[in-house]
Amino acid sequence: MKIAITGTSGLVGYDLWQTLKDQHEVWGIGRKKPDFVSLTQWRTLDIIDLETTSQVVSQINPDCVVHLAALSNPDDCEKDPTTAYTANALGTRNLALACQRFDTELLYVSTDQVFNGKKKSPYTELDTPDPVNHYGISKLWGEKFVQTLLRRFYIVRTALVYGKIRSTFVNRVARCVLENDPITAATDIVNSPTNSKDLALALSILIEKHTYGIYHLVNEGYCSRFELSRFIAQSLGKKASMIKKGTQTSLKLPARRPGYCPLENFVWKLNQFPKMRTWQEAIISFLEELPELNK
Ligand SMILES: NC(=O)c1ccc[n+]([C@@H]2O[C@H](COP(=O)([O-])OP(=O)(O)OC[C@H]3O[C@@H](n4cnc5c(N)ncnc54)[C@H](OP(=O)(O)O)[C@@H]3O)[C@@H](O)[C@H]2O)c1
Repeated sequence: MKIAITGTSGLVGYDLWQTLKDQHEVWGIGRKKPDFVSLTQWRTLDIIDLETTSQVVSQINPDCVVHLAALSNPDDCEKDPTTAYTANALGTRNLALACQRFDTELLYVSTDQVFNGKKKSPYTELDTPDPVNHYGISKLWGEKFVQTLLRRFYIVRTALVYGKIRSTFVNRVARCVLENDPITAATDIVNSPTNSKDLALALSILIEKHTYGIYHLVNEGYCSRFELSRFIAQSLGKKASMIKKGTQTSLKLPARRPGYCPLENFVWKLNQFPKMRTWQEAIISFLEELPELNK
């Protein structure tokens, strides 16, 4: 297949590129070409530009666009809602319109933060979104554009993704733990941490099967940020007691988080696709692979 990826320079983009590059013709789309992408497989684009978005999709003429580009940090979105709505909602509309025009499949990666965090059990694809911050609202708005403008689409909601290409909550905790810096982590933010490599592999399976629809895709299980941090400390041979308990309020996070927001891979499992690893297995393999942590 010919597959174009927006957000290639980001966390998921890097792992998706590595996952797809040997089996498919892969193109990167974005504002700045990452080093691992060759010029012959690259088109420069700011997705907030409607006309250029259409031109780039028409020039590449892909079978599928995987749309990862976003302002993905909830705190940045809270500080600058205009950029969040422009990039996450209107940028997604622009891509959806281009895909509509050229009859191209679109896979849009969305977030657990479309939910309000008030449910007492993991969220499935059948639950109704009700976001509590600008990031969640902007991503849900993007979902609506995809659903209303396109016939052949995937919406994949994931959560707390970590990988090696840029710093994330997991990387920061691991680094602090190794440097014996104490950490305070929230007990009241619960979600399903997800290894970017596992997500990339699952996305590649979906694209190859053409089973359109809405999916939750996370590593199995869930934990609070406090439990996750303690698990990282213990996995790195350190004392769990170096992780202190905090809350959303005590940590003064700019964006309110939906407190209890685990996702269940309900539709994925119904389809009998390969089971995602547990979040603990995925964290352990990530820590083993991270070169700077193993020096
Ligand atoms: N990371 C998570 O924990 C998480 C959790 C749930 C869902 N998601 C979703 O998963 C997707 C991928 O996340 P990620 O963590 O891989 O993102 P990321 O590392 O923050 O990278 C974002 C990417 O979007 C690109 N981008 C931003 N605005 C753009 C614009 N106007 N035009 C073109 N490109 C633009 C950036 O390119 P530049 O290099 O030009 O800035 C970068 O490549 C996002 O849609 C995000 O909402 C992420």
